[in-house]
Amino acid sequence: MKKLSARVTLAVIVILTTGIGTFAFLASLYEIRVAKHHAEESCRDWASAVGYGIQAIVDASGKEEEARLIAEFLERQRGHNAMMGLQAFDVHLREMFPSQRFPVLNPVHSAALLTAIKAGRDTSYYEPDGILLNHLQPVWTLGPVGTTGGLTWGAVRVTMSMEEEWNRIRRTTITLLSGGLIAVVVTGFLLSRWLRRVVVRPIEQVESTLTALARGNMKARVSWTSGDELGSLARHVNQMADALAHQRELELELLHLSKLSDIGALAQGIAHNLKSPLTAVRGFAQLLQMQHPDLQHLDAIVRSADQISDIVDNIMYKSRQEQRGDRQPIDLNRLLREELRFLEADSQFKHQTEKVYRFAEDLPAVEGVYSDFSQCFTNLIRNALDAMHKSNRKQLTVETEKNGDGVIVRVSDTGSGIPKEHLDHIFEPFFTTKPIVGEAKPGEPTGTGLGLSTCVQLMKPYGAEIAAESEVGVGTTFTVRVPTRAGGA
Ligand SMILES: Nc1ncnc2c1ncn2[C@@H]1O[C@H](COP(=O)(O)OP(=O)(O)OP(=O)(O)O)[C@@H](O)[C@H]1O
Ligand SMILES: [Mg+2]
Repeated sequence: MKKLSARVTLAVIVILTTGIGTFAFLASLYEIRVAKHHAEESCRDWASAVGYGIQAIVDASGKEEEARLIAEFLERQRGHNAMMGLQAFDVHLREMFPSQRFPVLNPVHSAALLTAIKAGRDTSYYEPDGILLNHLQPVWTLGPVGTTGGLTWGAVRVTMSMEEEWNRIRRTTITLLSGGLIAVVVTGFLLSRWLRRVVVRPIEQVESTLTALARGNMKARVSWTSGDELGSLARHVNQMADALAHQRELELELLHLSKLSDIGALAQGIAHNLKSPLTAVRGFAQLLQMQHPDLQHLDAIVRSADQISDIVDNIMYKSRQEQRGDRQPIDLNRLLREELRFLEADSQFKHQTEKVYRFAEDLPAVEGVYSDFSQCFTNLIRNALDAMHKSNRKQLTVETEKNGDGVIVRVSDTGSGIPKEHLDHIFEPFFTTKPIVGEAKPGEPTGTGLGLSTCVQLMKPYGAEIAAESEVGVGTTFTVRVPTRAGGA
């Protein structure tokens, strides 16, 4: 993830640097244009003013004083603008009234000067170093006083050094670039922090959540929420995590069930092995009774052996039935009796629960897999007992009834009842109001919320329906209607 963060920062810096560099370059170009324009304009204005001045002097004065007046005029003009050089040339390109300041005319100057004088057109040009700007202004006169016809008098050259301008432009460009560099660093830093927060962090969260899920932490979720694509990615990851968690719980449940069937097989083996010593105990006790009729407590031994034998039979019957995966006719009265007898092992059920059993005598058998029904009814009965955990009066009622073509089984309790808002949800997988194992107080019932949904799944192939009626604080009745011949699957 560090790589992504570095790439984002690099991209931000490249974009900003390019932007600010382009801006500084364009700003410098503009500055150069404006500076040149201003310089050329002031050279031209001055040269043309000086040209008119000379023309006026020549036109108005006689030959003798003309030279002196022009020399004085040029000197004054030079004094006005010390930044610029000012020269006057005659038609033979000789400098009149030399200034000493720009003494030499090189071939470039000469050619340009000649063109200006001959063509009578003013012109500007830079010297090759780009620092000196020249403007050439041809000068005409009407001729000295008393003469007629226009004459080309010569030309005026104004020279200006652009050094200051170029320095100023360089300084502006450097200021722009260094200011831009600081702006790049500051903005890049802020922008990359912001991007890290809105882009990198959610992706980091998604990555760590996926890693945690892969390591088996099914509770890991992305806490990032937003309305954009990253928010939707986070939501999808969470949905996937929910689905994975469900899947894992179902797997655990399946594992649990397969363990149960292993335990069933084990129980059946143990019960089977208990049978012969138990028959021997009972036989010897009866033999002793016959041989020594005066011996006490032998009756109790025989009765206890019978009870143990009963329990062993029950275990064997139940586990044998549960091992069978095929459909068979099932007597639900017997199945319920066996399940309830099994529950007698729980002392709270045995001693503190009032039991009312009403089993219809002419109950028809239902076709099905034994364990489907035993699991379903056990869950209903366990739910009833859990609901009465805190009740003062604990009464469990289990009834069977023949109903047309089917059988009805009712399991009622005097427990806490189910609030109306929960009634619609109790058959949903994972809906539970009980704590999970490990978070419950001592003796408090725990749950995963899979019992009733499993019941619904188990009963589906038989076309059986499960309904619940409940009143909070009074109790609950679950009614299962099983058709005797429905559901051929
Ligand atoms: N007889 C009942 N009285 C009151 N509430 C009940 C009764 N039976 C079920 N419920 C409510 O329905 C919820 C779901 O029951 P379900 O059997 O599906 O799961 P559970 O009993 O919580 O857990 P699990 O059966 O997986 O151990 C229970 O948590 C409980 O709130
Ligand atoms: Mg349950």
